[in-house]
Amino acid sequence: MCGIVGYVGKKEVVPILIDGLRRLEYRGYDSAGIALLDKGNLTVAKSKGKVELLDNSVNRSHYSGTVGIGHTRWATHGEPSVTNAHPHTDCSKSIAIVHNGIIENYLELKEKLIKEGHKFRSKTDSEVIAHLIEKYYKGNLEKAVLSSIKKLKGSYAIAVITKDEPHKVVAVKCGSPLIVGIGKEENFVASDVPAILTHTRKVIYLHDYDVVVLNEKKVQIKNIKGKNVNRRVEKITWDINAAEKGGYSHFMLKEIEEQPDVILNIIKRRIDDKRRIFFDELKLNKNDFKSIKKITIIACGTAWHAGLIGKYLIEKHARIPVEVDLSSEYRYRKPPSIKNELVIAVSQSGETADTLAALRLARHNKLKVITVCNVIGSSMVRESDSVIYTHAGPEIGVASTKAYTAQISIFYLLAVHLAFLRGVIGRNTEHKLVKEFEELPKLITRILNNKKDIESCAEKYKQASSFLYLGRNINYPTALEGALKLKEISYIHAEGCSAGEMKHGPIALVDEKLPTVCIAPKSVTYEKMLSNIQELKARCGIVVSVATERDNIIKKHSDYVIHIPKVNEDLSCILATIPLQLLAYYMAVAKGRDVDRPRNLAKSVTVE
Ligand code: F6R
Repeated sequence: MCGIVGYVGKKEVVPILIDGLRRLEYRGYDSAGIALLDKGNLTVAKSKGKVELLDNSVNRSHYSGTVGIGHTRWATHGEPSVTNAHPHTDCSKSIAIVHNGIIENYLELKEKLIKEGHKFRSKTDSEVIAHLIEKYYKGNLEKAVLSSIKKLKGSYAIAVITKDEPHKVVAVKCGSPLIVGIGKEENFVASDVPAILTHTRKVIYLHDYDVVVLNEKKVQIKNIKGKNVNRRVEKITWDINAAEKGGYSHFMLKEIEEQPDVILNIIKRRIDDKRRIFFDELKLNKNDFKSIKKITIIACGTAWHAGLIGKYLIEKHARIPVEVDLSSEYRYRKPPSIKNELVIAVSQSGETADTLAALRLARHNKLKVITVCNVIGSSMVRESDSVIYTHAGPEIGVASTKAYTAQISIFYLLAVHLAFLRGVIGRNTEHKLVKEFEELPKLITRILNNKKDIESCAEKYKQASSFLYLGRNINYPTALEGALKLKEISYIHAEGCSAGEMKHGPIALVDEKLPTVCIAPKSVTYEKMLSNIQELKARCGIVVSVATERDNIIKKHSDYVIHIPKVNEDLSCILATIPLQLLAYYMAVAKGRDVDRPRNLAKSVTVE
């Protein structure tokens, strides 16, 4: 949930750290800090709030150093403040650490260290790491780090420097992401690739319990026993522009607009010139697919909504029973497993703590796990039997947009592929369904060209204090996702419901002040949605409909209609999502919210 970066080389370290932190801000932004080794001194600068404030408070001409570490925080223990901001130092201010994760046994360790005479300054769990390293330090930083991590319980990615060894950074990972960037006479560690991509494309994804020692010439990785280990160097193929705003006012808008390209990319990677679907990277063979008796999908938040849509698609096309569970529930409810059950974990980041734990439980129960993921080399990817990458490119905006439509696209193609492999459909039906999918980029572009209309809708209803979202069948999860997007970035209360459930409770909320967003494209449940809309109008509710182009009937019963192009019902959930993302976006902008960094949230939820 926090972002860390470290550098050792020949260049001035402050601009490198600040720039790296800016690119990691999506991971947390309630305080930021850096520590650097400056002519034999350890210098620390911190500030409350965003990296920009740290940058303004650091007079760059006062600092000169070529080794340092930095941190941007998402508070878990101790409120956002300068004292609780990282880096944290030991008693003698010789050692500085930055930490992402949670030290579960910190209270116990803290008590012991206090008894031993250590003086603590912050309320964080992380500070114990600095004091533990101080305790074990006997002139070799990596040895002290190794001894310290043996005492830690929880999850962590840590980077450490000490003024007694001024040419190195030591870092270690367990449960939280950490990569190494390899440059020319300079090396880096960071929580994520964008932090270092302007300097190098050569990256190592560290494994749990890897301890890495960096100096400007060398990167050495050891395991917990102190033995050297080799890790593959990967080449990052995407460009830093993909992780920058490129003229857009917010990452979220840029990422919404990228969706036609994301789907084109999926088409290119997953469909051949005869319109046959392939998932080459799956290590399961045709017989494995034929013998599947049940699929369980595990995910959190927006990815869980994609999983709910996956259920509709897989059950409809491949006729395999699917259960969808929130990872946080699955991991504690002792789910029984059956023979030939397949688990699909869905995650943009591949680092979400609950989904990772749920995935581990499934594997512990001897189930095969496929992860649908956007981040190459992430923890879930490494721990799964197989991976399907969404290849949506880096998603920086905290609210997930393009990763979501990419996840649904993968489920659509997987459902059709499974249907074919299991003999439920033939090549002709596969061809037809693929052809319809190929239309999506064009249709999404049509919606995006009409954004002004959605902006006007946001302007009209921005004063509402609550919203209801209704949908049926495959667009029930669309309603959940629309409500989630609105609440997370505009802070307006919003609730998503199955329209069929409206009469069982939510209808009591309806009055002349409550806008209800009704997702009602032409489909098998269209008439039912129309009845729901009439029931809302009969109670003086405000109706904003998302409807198929040229639907003149719905117009008569709605206060505002947002049109989407005609498309097969399965794909209507992708098209209907686009205006809902835009509606949330424009509503948040109109209310002056920090769209890309909404309060209390972080992009990657690596703590439970
Ligand atoms: C909402 C959002 C979150 C994530 C959830 C899971 O816009 O982004 O609800 O979907 O935290 O994250 P991943 O997909 O990284 O596992």
